[in-house]
Amino acid sequence: MNKELATALMVLVLGASHVAAQEVTYRNSIAPLWKAQCIACHGAPSPERADFLLDEKGYEARSQGPRMDSYERFIAFIAWPDTGALMRRLDDGTSPNAGGKPGNMNQYLGSTAQERAVNLKIVKAWVGDGAWNLNRWNKRGEVPAVTKEQLDKIKVKY
Ligand code: HEC
Repeated sequence: MNKELATALMVLVLGASHVAAQEVTYRNSIAPLWKAQCIACHGAPSPERADFLLDEKGYEARSQGPRMDSYERFIAFIAWPDTGALMRRLDDGTSPNAGGKPGNMNQYLGSTAQERAVNLKIVKAWVGDGAWNLNRWNKRGEVPAVTKEQLDKIKVKY
């Protein structure tokens, strides 16, 4: 084997393992994204979710959302108790039951439409293939309750 071919093969092999290592995890992608885009209103000074719910209007008036600054806090807005909240808020309006309207936190995913689309794709990949839906724990109006099959698809790897 000549030297160029050997080098090319090595780049290919290393490149492939690099791609495999680039699985979307909370640590490598979501936490940095969250720090850049969400911390201002959901960080340590913000109330815990349960406290937030006691005075939603008051906190909202101060631009404070519920605190989400750790893996455990964050995933409460995906599976339970706030089932689908992250998906409803970040959706670009194209999911079933979104009514063509982006969620009100989608704007914070980036300053351009392209940046928002790229970041939404990352969050969707992290939540899990087929797990992105806007359903709640209980049926509300036309929106069905989340199913066990849908919940099973949630990945949210740490
Ligand atoms: C400028 C402030 C601000 C920024 C930045 C912001 N949020 Fe929010 N967020 C709020 C406020 C205030 C609320 C509560 C009012 C509401 O429900 O709209 C909220 C609510 C939410 C909820 C619903 C919580 C619940 O109780 O159901 C989710 C999920 C959420 N935000 C996610 C995010 C994510 C993810 C980001 C970053 C991409 C982000 N937010 C960026 C202010 C912000």
